Amino acid sequence: MVRVSTGVPGLDAMLNGGLIKGRVYLLKGAAGTGKTILAMHFAMEGVKNGEDVLYITLGEPSKQLVENMRSIGFEFDDPHFRLVDATPIDHVKSVVFTGSPGVEFGESMERLLSSIISEVEGKDYSRVVVDPITMMKLTVESELKYRKLLLPFLKAVHRKNTTVLLVSEEERTNVEEYMVSGVIELLRRDVNGTFVRGVRVTKFRGSAVDENTRPLKITSRGMVVLSDRVFRP
Ligand SMILES: Nc1ncnc2c1ncn2[C@@H]1O[C@H](COP(=O)(O)OP(=O)(O)O)[C@@H](O)[C@H]1O
Ligand SMILES: [Mg+2]
Repeated sequence: MVRVSTGVPGLDAMLNGGLIKGRVYLLKGAAGTGKTILAMHFAMEGVKNGEDVLYITLGEPSKQLVENMRSIGFEFDDPHFRLVDATPIDHVKSVVFTGSPGVEFGESMERLLSSIISEVEGKDYSRVVVDPITMMKLTVESELKYRKLLLPFLKAVHRKNTTVLLVSEEERTNVEEYMVSGVIELLRRDVNGTFVRGVRVTKFRGSAVDENTRPLKITSRGMVVLSDRVFRP
């Protein structure tokens, strides 16, 4: 099994060398826990290696995302990096790929996913991020339908041997957790008015893994995981 670096060395250490290539992972945590920053580390690690990377933003508009990520040193001028803004442009519509028709966001996760699937099938992306997948889920009426819709996407990326990070804003157990190969959870606790951050790996198929929660820091240079320390909130 080939390992893929998350871009955060301490997290790679927790994962016994990194994510496993060609698999789909869920990155979850409350707002402000650092999901987008970690997802960007993962994406930019690929870009650094000359891989093609697709980042689909459904939460923050791309302009804002780029501004925020620049504040911690990420640069966005590499042609290997494709940032797609699928945030709704008004209450219902979202244009996913230039040239594709506007997707009725509130109605059709199916069309949104099929646009993403054809993009993934048409190009050899080695890494894909969907940030957050929660936006899509909100538009589907049942969990069963959601699973059925997600499945073709999972199959497509599997065929292409693409490593995928799905970001989720839900803290409780998500339906996606049963469908992915691993789950990374980011935590944040208020200790006497100061935030203390942590990370744990709650599921990781096919490998040994660090079962401890480890402290995590976010600075103006990005995310650092202290894999040799114990998280004590
Ligand atoms: N330049 C920075 N320096 C230090 N911390 C930062 C910086 N930019 C963002 N952060 C921290 O990261 C948090 C946001 O991380 P983000 O990845 O956007 O969270 P999420 O996607 O989980 O909502 C902010 O709440 C802030 O605490
Ligand atoms: Mg985010």
